[in-house]
Amino acid sequence: MKNKKRVFSGIQPSGDPHIGNYIGAIRNWVADQEEYDNIFCVVDQHAITASYDPEELRRNVRQLVAVYLASGLDPSRCSLFVQSHVPEHTELAWLLMCVTPMGWLSRMTQFKEKSEGKQEQVSAGLFTYPVLMAADILLYQADGVPVGDDQKQHVELARDTAQRFNHLFGETFTVPQPIIRPVGARVMGLDDPTRKMAKSESGQNHSIGLLDEPDRIRKKLARAVTDSHKEIVFDPRRPGVFNLLTIYRSLSGQSQEEIEAHFEGKGYGDMKRELADVVIATLEPVQARFRELTEDPAYIDELLAEHAARVRVIARATMDKVRRVMGLR
Ligand code: AMP
Ligand code: TRP
Repeated sequence: MKNKKRVFSGIQPSGDPHIGNYIGAIRNWVADQEEYDNIFCVVDQHAITASYDPEELRRNVRQLVAVYLASGLDPSRCSLFVQSHVPEHTELAWLLMCVTPMGWLSRMTQFKEKSEGKQEQVSAGLFTYPVLMAADILLYQADGVPVGDDQKQHVELARDTAQRFNHLFGETFTVPQPIIRPVGARVMGLDDPTRKMAKSESGQNHSIGLLDEPDRIRKKLARAVTDSHKEIVFDPRRPGVFNLLTIYRSLSGQSQEEIEAHFEGKGYGDMKRELADVVIATLEPVQARFRELTEDPAYIDELLAEHAARVRVIARATMDKVRRVMGLR
């Protein structure tokens, strides 16, 4: 019996998680965990679509699970697991690939960006990445997918895939909806506020890591790109200041008016210092809990095994149905 709506989401363990991941995804999962039936995944098979180091991947998976827990996801209310521990994801991905038109995948902006100028060299996995993501979501019959703005197109592809499959083979999948917050769904790079903050960007002052030390956070924010104006107001035509104020707004919970009134007559230096205070105050308890969790790696391994077994029951039930309607059994 399903009385709460189910949400599914995931993050790639492909580098250090940053405040974009936190503001756009993790903290919204935490805030809404009472309202939903929650499944959150560390999508390791998505992280191998570009070149990577196997040892680093293994470490990043554990680190990201600890970040999920440290951020406040409650294992008694959320299932937390690693994608590759449930083999049904890749099985369903293959079946869905056979009902997904190439044209849909060719239109994905993330693929176009990531493959720009090297279409012949990137892996076929990078191209079919959104199908694996659709499989993640549809396998659990999720109603909602809480993500940042950059994943909207991928969730829409999962939606289209569910509808097409249901049309071809009969009602099989719940058609999922993206859940995107109006504020903070696209945090931009500190060094270049016209580009999304991303794990794949390498610049020293590009992102704030969730595990960054307070000193580092202060330094990075002090160097964040602004502009030559003075007024501290929310103006999207001034992307640097707009981004910093948006981070402030997301983490402080204050309204735009309150923030503009608060900073009236102050300078960028003051604003950056106060923003650093807010970021540090938000991350301090997360980091403390993270350190505690990493002292006991066995706890995380046991939790992952138990939760994978739990979600696999749902995955198996979906696959039974899918194989049957597709004539594979
Ligand atoms: P990724 O790091 O690409 O695995 O993204 C994991 C989650 O964080 C997804 O829900 C993304 O939409 C979200 N996310 C990633 N980068 C940002 C960003 N710069 N601003 C807001 N949300 C983001
Ligand atoms: N593609 C997503 C990202 O990079 C991660 C992801 C994989 C995901 N599978 C998912 C997100 C399923 C939501 C639901 O951010």
